[in-house]
Amino acid sequence: MKTIIEPFKIKSVEPIHFTTKKERKVILEKAHYNPFRIHADDVLIDLLTDSGTSAMSSDQWAGIMRGDESYAGSSSFFHFEQSVKEITGFPIVIPTHQGRAAEKILFSILGGKGKYFISNTLFDTTRANIEFSGAEGIDCLCEAGKYPSFPAPFKGNMDIDLLKKMIDQKGAGNIPMVIMTITNNSGGGQPVSMQNIKAASEVCKQHNIPFFIDACRFAENSYFIKLREEGYAGKSVPEIAVELFSYSDGCTMSAKKDAFANIGGFLAMRDMELAVRCRNLLIITEGFTTYGGLAGRDLEAIAIGLKEVMDEHYLQYRIRSIEYLTNKLITANVPVIQPAGGHAVYIDAKEFLPHIPVEQYPGQALVCALYVEGGIRSVEIGSLMFGKYAPNHQLIPSQMELVRLAIPRRVYTQSHIDYVAEVIIEVFRKRNEIKGLEITEETPLLRHFTAKLKPIS
Ligand code: F0G
Repeated sequence: MKTIIEPFKIKSVEPIHFTTKKERKVILEKAHYNPFRIHADDVLIDLLTDSGTSAMSSDQWAGIMRGDESYAGSSSFFHFEQSVKEITGFPIVIPTHQGRAAEKILFSILGGKGKYFISNTLFDTTRANIEFSGAEGIDCLCEAGKYPSFPAPFKGNMDIDLLKKMIDQKGAGNIPMVIMTITNNSGGGQPVSMQNIKAASEVCKQHNIPFFIDACRFAENSYFIKLREEGYAGKSVPEIAVELFSYSDGCTMSAKKDAFANIGGFLAMRDMELAVRCRNLLIITEGFTTYGGLAGRDLEAIAIGLKEVMDEHYLQYRIRSIEYLTNKLITANVPVIQPAGGHAVYIDAKEFLPHIPVEQYPGQALVCALYVEGGIRSVEIGSLMFGKYAPNHQLIPSQMELVRLAIPRRVYTQSHIDYVAEVIIEVFRKRNEIKGLEITEETPLLRHFTAKLKPIS
């Protein structure tokens, strides 16, 4: 088989700023060992997120010029609405400025004290919006998903027996919604199978619980279904997407991922009554129902991006490029989540740095080391992001201590990725020199964005 090439040519380029290791040590110290605080100009390869960082196509840029900026009834809204309807089959489409705005609206309406939202794994903003409403989020990840190096095709799946148990335990009346995150971002970008989506949907139907999909990476998940699930090899990605959404009652979506947009999102659903309540809240928080916090040009870019993302040449290249980096690291014995996920490579920091206890945030220590060694910005998905405190202030750690290297869509080439692998392998060689960190300042919610840390002396 020949090399799978980037299925695009580069029309416009953006220079990268180079820094020295000595400069990066100072930059990191000034940023309190939290790369969210680093100026992007001081980053060489930015793998902090795949969200809003995509390169748009020439078609999308042309769409930006065509964007209709009418306050109400903009033609770009109808183009956007049509695209979403075609892909999801949902009759009601509500634009929002990004994914978490859709979440905020949904959970403000459905959440509250004494309520429980069940998921395979909730993403951090989703969980935060649920908790902010007073409700509680419960993850029911399948057993295979809990072991980073255990290879299984659908490690993002929900544990259906646990879902049933939770419904029995908490009472269906206290569960306003079950949410399936595809792909499962916090659990390694791992896909969810069609069979699992169907099974979760059936359980929800039996108990009259609405079943929603967090659809940020629906195209990547659909492509994994095509590659890995029996009976889907001959189906097209749009066909798979339509089927997948057909088992659900609605979705939240961040268009900053699988729509190649730099901003945007939406809520889509079948329930007219719920939609009326969502639109009321939309108008006072986001904007009128035909723009929801977005410019007409953004709606146009999303409408086009949603179609482009389902191109199978693109998806083949996308999934292969993540696998390429994963395999390079596996060959060098770097502990990573296997098999490769859809949008990112996840390093198992607990295995990488066994000498650093979880109370000293091994994931964040590795994030800092990658920045100093090669100017690579990554993100910790571990106890800094998800850790909680017991009443005696002892850390309740996250299940896994991961470092995510999220690959922006259509932005970096193979040589950038080769460089990333070289840096990680170099840091792995010197891993015993890496020290743990302690937190010096933090906020009660989503602390990882702004926390200040310092190395343990
Ligand atoms: N759900 C999932 C699964 C996500 O990955 C994200 C964002 C959101 C919801 C929220 O969407 O950012 O548009 O408000 N994930 C980004 C990331 C931030 O880096 O993984 P948003």
